[in-house]
Amino acid sequence: MLEQVRVQEKTVREKLAEILAGCEKDRSRLIPILQRVQHAFGYLSREAMLEAGSYLGMTDVQIYGVASFYNYFRFTPLGKYPIQMCMGTACHMVGGGLVLEALERVLDIKVGGITENGEFSLDRVACIGCCGLAPVMVIGEKIHPKMTPATVDEVLVNLKIEAGEASPEGDDQAAKAE
Ligand code: FES
Repeated sequence: MLEQVRVQEKTVREKLAEILAGCEKDRSRLIPILQRVQHAFGYLSREAMLEAGSYLGMTDVQIYGVASFYNYFRFTPLGKYPIQMCMGTACHMVGGGLVLEALERVLDIKVGGITENGEFSLDRVACIGCCGLAPVMVIGEKIHPKMTPATVDEVLVNLKIEAGEASPEGDDQAAKAE
């Protein structure tokens, strides 16, 4: 996240140039390059894929073809509250998939998407190393343990209350995409 904040201080183009300058001009380095770009920006923009493509002598379509093969890469920006649902084995075994479905339903987006108001983005991730708390959801840096479909709404509303964007008595639709 810190890296992403620093990026805002430079132009996207400058940051991309900096990343690419530190990478070998070799197509076999495509994945590490994309990983560095995503780490810096939170996602792979079309501009970033064009720049990486021109550096490596590939088209943006070729780059997208490779990147879209991996769940790790996302092609839309992160939301103000980036949500990651763990879909590692332990979380999957105790209902992680149902929680993920509930998140998609409540936020009205699919995995890899962002709500229209830019508040929430949703991703699935592999094991984050706290299987004893499964199923686990992470929002920003905060871990939300033992999630169920029924607690999705509650967690999202509490998040908005803590951020001062909703009142405790307020409407329970506060967390939903507007
Ligand atoms: S499988 Fe989810 S934390 Fe390990």
